[in-house]
Amino acid sequence: MEPPRPRLGVSQMSDTKRIEHPTWLTSGDFTEADEPFELFEHWIKDAIDAEPRDPTAMTLATIGDDGTPNARVVLLKGRDEKGFVFYTNMESQKGRELDAGKAAALVFYWKSLNRQIRIRGTVERVTPQEADAYFATRPKGAQIGAWASQQSRPLESRALFEKAVAGYTDKYAESDVPRPPHWIGYRVVPMKIEFWHDRPFRLHDRIEFERAKFGGAWVKTRMYP
Ligand SMILES: Cc1cc2nc3c(=O)[nH]c(=O)nc-3n(C[C@H](O)[C@H](O)[C@H](O)COP(=O)(O)O)c2cc1C
Repeated sequence: MEPPRPRLGVSQMSDTKRIEHPTWLTSGDFTEADEPFELFEHWIKDAIDAEPRDPTAMTLATIGDDGTPNARVVLLKGRDEKGFVFYTNMESQKGRELDAGKAAALVFYWKSLNRQIRIRGTVERVTPQEADAYFATRPKGAQIGAWASQQSRPLESRALFEKAVAGYTDKYAESDVPRPPHWIGYRVVPMKIEFWHDRPFRLHDRIEFERAKFGGAWVKTRMYP
């Protein structure tokens, strides 16, 4: 039987607001991890159990061609020994920025768990075979949408978009929908991964893993919150 989980307690964050910290984690566990991918697996599993919506949603930050940061949310669709994969339109703003900059940052924030993960790394496209395999698992409506949306380009009216959807729906009424050539996955290959966990009185736990090159050893550093 699982031992009872000690409650980290209710802390007085302000005079008017009592905040319950639902965590039973202490410095004795996640900060002792010596490898970030396994810890990520635990945290994403916890998020899938705990978050009512989109537990795999992550903020993706890129660098615009004028040097201005640009951020938006995408969904994590794969994680392997190389990195973190999401899918999009390579002709979208993010696609162009990823192809030009070859670098990105990701942030997960799980409100239900009071946890954050920050990732920084280099970017590569997944192989066409990998993209085909994932595209094939998508609902037909989403496959049609990938053809109909010229993501990040100006759209004159909703009606025009719906007309495009209807056109592709007709076109593929009797057949499978092939993957549009502009619809692809990107993989963020991490060089830094930081795990942050809320603790009472903003005395949070925070550990960062860094490596100098792909395949190199991870060096862990505990950080002030
Ligand atoms: C919860 C959520 C999940 C999303 N997932 C994706 C995704 O996986 N791929 C994608 O291209 N856009 C996704 N979007 C839309 C993007 O945030 C963004 O609006 C769109 O990709 C255009 O971004 P861009 O103009 O910077 O390329 C998602 C938005 C939200 C709120």
